[in-house]
Amino acid sequence: MKKIRVAIFGTGNIGTDLLVKIFRSKYLECNLFSGRSFLSLGLKKFRAEKLKNKRKYRNLILSDKGVNALVKNSNNFDLIFDCTSAKLHKKNFKLFRKLKKKIINLTPTDDGYMCIPVLNLEECNKSIELNMVSCGAQSSVPVAFTMSKIFKKRVQYIETTSTISSKSAGPATRLNLDEYIYSTQRAINYFARVNKCKAILNLNPAFPHINMETTTYAKIKGKKVSKSELNRFKKLLKSIISKLRKYVRGHKIIVEPTLIDDVLVVKTKTIGAGDYLPSYAGNLDIINCAAVAAGEYYAKKK
Ligand SMILES: NC(=O)c1ccc[n+]([C@@H]2O[C@H](COP(=O)([O-])OP(=O)(O)OC[C@H]3O[C@@H](n4cnc5c(N)ncnc54)[C@H](OP(=O)(O)O)[C@@H]3O)[C@@H](O)[C@H]2O)c1
Repeated sequence: MKKIRVAIFGTGNIGTDLLVKIFRSKYLECNLFSGRSFLSLGLKKFRAEKLKNKRKYRNLILSDKGVNALVKNSNNFDLIFDCTSAKLHKKNFKLFRKLKKKIINLTPTDDGYMCIPVLNLEECNKSIELNMVSCGAQSSVPVAFTMSKIFKKRVQYIETTSTISSKSAGPATRLNLDEYIYSTQRAINYFARVNKCKAILNLNPAFPHINMETTTYAKIKGKKVSKSELNRFKKLLKSIISKLRKYVRGHKIIVEPTLIDDVLVVKTKTIGAGDYLPSYAGNLDIINCAAVAAGEYYAKKK
């Protein structure tokens, strides 16, 4: 099968980890990796890789010319992965559309069709722009969705807290914290159909670096949750997480669904593949593997 040619815009933590993953893909080929400075660690890394293995990277253009490189090389790709910042995405998305490219947006903006591959890959593939929301949304939304499937309108409130290592959050992630909260909450509202929710992100500077973990809880109103309802919830969640693990292998439940009075709590952990940063940075993997799954699905259907 012929691979779909892609461009990655943004050469920071997310962009660089994504590039390593795309080089393993049977369906995607990256032809352009564009940032704004050759001092960027991602561009430095791939300049060195290219010198070591010219054959493997022969089609990969490395550029520090930002969005101008996308315009100049637009005949070389059909899909753009935007790994910059929400502000920059807002500035550029009209241009991406003018270039008539499929867009997979990894910045937390409100543009595009929200995509959580385990829940809606098929329907969002129809949209020209897919929005991967945030790392916290990729881990909490499947749990929140399952809560709403079992307890329906009895779900009164959902709160999710993700903790990631400070080292894995680049400057753009830090600039985007308000957008992260807004877009993660928007995704929970949409997928779980719950009006009241709260998303929290904790950048933990501890050393040794900590793994990505997400705790999601729901307040269930009305009649007391029965044992059989809890068991149905556990069963459905297990099957959704096992589907999610097909594209994010290091994701798992680490605290089984627990009921404390009317509060149902689930805790997950994501261990990364160690493609760019070491395995503690599962936050890069959970969104990048989701983005690769969305790109590969598009390639297979094209
Ligand atoms: N890190 C995470 O855990 C995570 C998870 C999910 C989603 N995200 C989202 O992914 C995006 C990137 O996050 P990150 O942690 O990878 O941040 P980052 O390391 O700061 O990466 C952002 C990249 O964009 C580049 N950039 C900034 N302005 C540019 C311009 N005008 N033209 C071209 N390139 C430009 C930066 O260049 P320089 O290298 O020269 O600064 C940097 O390489 C953010 O929107 C974030 O919210 C992050």
